[in-house]
Amino acid sequence: MTGDLFDHLGVQEKAAEEPVRLGEGAFIFPGMALPQAEALLDAARAIARKAPFRHLITPGGHRMSVAMTACGDWGWNSDRKGYRYTRTQPETGEAWPPIPDSFERLVRQATMAAGFSEAPLQSGLINLYRPGTRLSLHQDRDEEATDVPIVSVSLGVAATFLWGGLTRKDPMRRFRLSHGDVVVWGGPSRLVFHGVAPLARSTHPATGECRVNLTFRRVTR
Ligand code: SIN
Ligand code: FE2
Repeated sequence: MTGDLFDHLGVQEKAAEEPVRLGEGAFIFPGMALPQAEALLDAARAIARKAPFRHLITPGGHRMSVAMTACGDWGWNSDRKGYRYTRTQPETGEAWPPIPDSFERLVRQATMAAGFSEAPLQSGLINLYRPGTRLSLHQDRDEEATDVPIVSVSLGVAATFLWGGLTRKDPMRRFRLSHGDVVVWGGPSRLVFHGVAPLARSTHPATGECRVNLTFRRVTR
């Protein structure tokens, strides 16, 4: 059971570099992004200069604790009217910055490694977590293209990823996502409930107290 050892917190530790299978069509690739991590962070910073991070308001009126921006054909917006993908930055009307080559190469590599043919490259969301920031359990179901997997890249401070099932009440497992880890979920796992536990106060040489997550999707068919 290498890769499935439980520590006292119930967090499953990963064996170095071996993919961890979360379910059918869902994997963690430990350290896959490590060789490019600095370049990815530089590219994310360049995007944030053109499309600044903001805390979206949920339809229920709550300010999200995660700060978000985006690149690609589609970014993400949320306000009192609901959640939706947008072609332009709502604050300025400008297009989202393009997906950088460094992001695209990694997304293609991860997609292939997970056994999928089509890489999700219409939308790259960038999530910024600070100590205490969390992402409650949800499904990614605002995309038409649920036949294309999601690729998610973790950078900086490690987080606890919550991985459930296809219904909200399914049992949930916890996995540590460290700097350079890549998660892919598609096929029968595409609509699995997932989330991120509140980020612990810690520091990482590349990002200080923050965790940066890059998440790639195909939005339209
Ligand atoms: C997401 O669920 O969209 C992001 C997950 C993460 O930050 O790891
Ligand atoms: Fe998600």
